[in-house]
Amino acid sequence: MKEMDNDFFVIKAKENGVNVIGLTRGTETRFHHSEKLDKGEVMIAQFTDHTSAVKVRGKAVIYTRHGVVDTEA
Ligand code: TRP
Repeated sequence: MKEMDNDFFVIKAKENGVNVIGLTRGTETRFHHSEKLDKGEVMIAQFTDHTSAVKVRGKAVIYTRHGVVDTEA
């Protein structure tokens, strides 16, 4: 399974109601999934055949192999 070789990234919510939105891969870029996290909740995810981009709304910290970023909200 290709996902096995794919790095994970972690999103940790710093407030209630953080949205993690998956955007489709391919010619059409649209939302296909929205996950709501409450404060302290963590989501672990990957980029896949279906997901090429992720948008995070709300106060959160995102950990990736490339470093750590936080949203400002
Ligand atoms: N079904 C989606 C997929 O396989 C699940 C998913 C993976 C996802 N990574 C994500 C959803 C990131 C939201 C954000 O692509």
